Amino acid sequence: MVSQSLDVKPTHARRLPFPRLAAFAERVERAPSLDAPVRALSNIVVRALPPRTRLDDALHGVPFGQPAHPALVRLPLGCWTSAVLLDFLPGARFLPRAQRFPAAQALLAAGLAAAIPSAASGLADWSALHRHQQRVGLVHALAQGTATVLFASSLLARISGRQRSGKALSLAGLTAATAGAYLGGHLALRLGAGASHAEPIGHLVALGWQDICPLDDLPEGRLARRQLGYLSLVALRRGKQVHVLSDHCAHLGGPLHQGRVITEDGQACVSCPWHGSVFRFRDGSVVHGPATARQPAFESRVTDSGLVQVRPATPQRR
Ligand code: FES
Repeated sequence: MVSQSLDVKPTHARRLPFPRLAAFAERVERAPSLDAPVRALSNIVVRALPPRTRLDDALHGVPFGQPAHPALVRLPLGCWTSAVLLDFLPGARFLPRAQRFPAAQALLAAGLAAAIPSAASGLADWSALHRHQQRVGLVHALAQGTATVLFASSLLARISGRQRSGKALSLAGLTAATAGAYLGGHLALRLGAGASHAEPIGHLVALGWQDICPLDDLPEGRLARRQLGYLSLVALRRGKQVHVLSDHCAHLGGPLHQGRVITEDGQACVSCPWHGSVFRFRDGSVVHGPATARQPAFESRVTDSGLVQVRPATPQRR
């Protein structure tokens, strides 16, 4: 028998055009030296933004049904990029010099104003992430903070008549902002910050009513975990009524069955044990963030033989 040795090379080193960027982001994830500043900043943010307040929910994006930060960051980045384009693109020369620089200054100032809500929403989301995500988020925030300082310096330079310095500072700011945006993408798309982590029940649950357990097996008024095929459910029994949600929290997949039953506006809700998101049992809607996506909910019924059956609830049926 001939044995073959396989020459396995790291695939990302061959395929990615910028392997060092990806490797750098992965190194940041695994850098415990960032933990002390992460803890310090996290404590400041949590003290400044107490959870379950209107401001905290708004910064997370609860009223919009998705995180607010990705939408808000487009404003400063768009303004700043446009300012740099006005500075450097030959096409912008159609504007008289006297108009080109005030236009760039106005864009820089608008970007600085828009950076405030963008940073606040980012910090709110960041404070409720896992540690490896927070490490990447910290470096992302440092890059964007550096970009903000550079653009502010550029604006001051232009106002004081130093146009050449202003242009150079803007270019440096855009470089820092682009590096920060790369880490933001890594955080959102590779590490799943901001995406819904609830199971896609439409793909995992068969059509029609499905048995989960006898009613008598469910404790009264307490959370219980039940399994439906691959899917984990959290159930709350109130007399003969049973509320059922998907168990993995939409925020970062926390186990809702280990959370607490609370009442909000007279309705039964579950509070996630990891970061305190609150979901209404009736329909899975978000009462408080950091989660912004609705928790998948189930309709339930009890058969004559005392079996609890569920099926995915749809917006039409709710
Ligand atoms: S996992 Fe973060 S609130 Fe549930």
